[in-house]
Amino acid sequence: MGIITGLLRQFYRKSKLCPVINFRSASDVSPLRCEIKGDFSWLCGSSVDVLDAIRGHVEVRENFITEEEESALFKEVELGLKKKKYEFNHWDDAIHGYRETERLQWGSVCAGILARVRTTAFPEGSPLLGPVHVLDLDKTGYIKPHVDSVKFCGSTIAGLCLLSDSVMRLVREENTADCVDLLLSRRSLYIMRDDVRFKFTHEILKDEESFFSGHRVPRERRISVICRNLPV
Ligand code: OGA
Ligand code: MN
Repeated sequence: MGIITGLLRQFYRKSKLCPVINFRSASDVSPLRCEIKGDFSWLCGSSVDVLDAIRGHVEVRENFITEEEESALFKEVELGLKKKKYEFNHWDDAIHGYRETERLQWGSVCAGILARVRTTAFPEGSPLLGPVHVLDLDKTGYIKPHVDSVKFCGSTIAGLCLLSDSVMRLVREENTADCVDLLLSRRSLYIMRDDVRFKFTHEILKDEESFFSGHRVPRERRISVICRNLPV
């Protein structure tokens, strides 16, 4: 098991998970209707207040990479991934239907892309986690609500989304009615910082529940390439 694998995710205890699971059951999630005007078409939430609370701590940059860059990343990460089997049966895991790997050394095209991610997402001089985390979700795979462990990762996470659109849901731990959805389009970069990392759980919706603002977002196989910084 690598540094990232397993350690970053601090699993919810069953009792804590319940409110979130209740909230998630597909039939009673009405579409989140609050949106912000302007360049925030990727964001919707349960209230204006929750949008105000997360605004500035979360960003989605659509088309951050080109189709050619997506192919270059895919080719390189596929080498590490295809040696592994998808995990489906660990019901205690935060993730269902996935395989993952870490990569430290990259070819020049990918190294260039990752350098761009890092200068975009992290303050200059912020100590970064060296290996990049690559998470491959099967079409039927999904990420359950969780908070990444504060022991192993810092205030910021930046993820490139390959192969499929998806919906990331953020739910406030102290009040699970406060909820925000992010439309993570294929080839986008998302960045989450500070309170959004620690006071909200994050999850990637399964195909059957994958809706954004009432619109269906079909989930295919999805790969995320994630850079993190270190805790201070
Ligand atoms: C994780 C996680 C999000 C993603 O690995 O802890 O939340 O975009 N991943 O894959
Ligand atoms: Mn996580």
